[in-house]
Amino acid sequence: MTPSFTRAHDGAAGLALCFMVLSALSLLAGSCMGIWMGVAHDFVFAPVHAHLNLLGWASMALFGLAYRAWPAMAEAPLARMHLAVSGAGAFVLPLGIALAVAGAPPAVAILGALLWTAGAALFLGGLLRLVAAPAGSATTVPAE
Ligand code: HEM
Repeated sequence: MTPSFTRAHDGAAGLALCFMVLSALSLLAGSCMGIWMGVAHDFVFAPVHAHLNLLGWASMALFGLAYRAWPAMAEAPLARMHLAVSGAGAFVLPLGIALAVAGAPPAVAILGALLWTAGAALFLGGLLRLVAAPAGSATTVPAE
């Protein structure tokens, strides 16, 4: 089911917006963490900061922009699954890295890595579905 905050933005735009909101949340969390590391002069959690920013902010934003560029890709059920799996992975993996750096077993990091990789596979699946679509049905549409 589409989250209520996307009601005004159905279809591809709504899905892209969900990716962008998760991306901006990661950017804010990762940036706050960067400030904390700088102020505390404690860089032991730098890999957590890097993964929050590069999976959460950069990759999730790229996914969102891809669904805006190829709206036909957002119509497949695969796309909603991609949002759920990559969205979870983008937060579970940094959390798992934080726990592992703090000395806990790496189980959560492994789960996050598997989720993230499954999300990457779903994204590739969506792209390949588009490549295989009949000519003209996967045209690039400029954002309104
Ligand atoms: C307010 C914004 C930010 C602040 C204050 C900040 C601060 C920092 C600090 C203090 C470090 C550790 C440097 C060291 O280990 O000597 C770091 C590392 C890093 N940051 Fe940021 N950062 C910010 C935003 C970002 C963003 C937006 C990205 C990526 C899109 C990013 C990617 C990285 C990466 C890849 C590393 C290296 C991590 C590692 O060595 O394991 N940062 N940042």
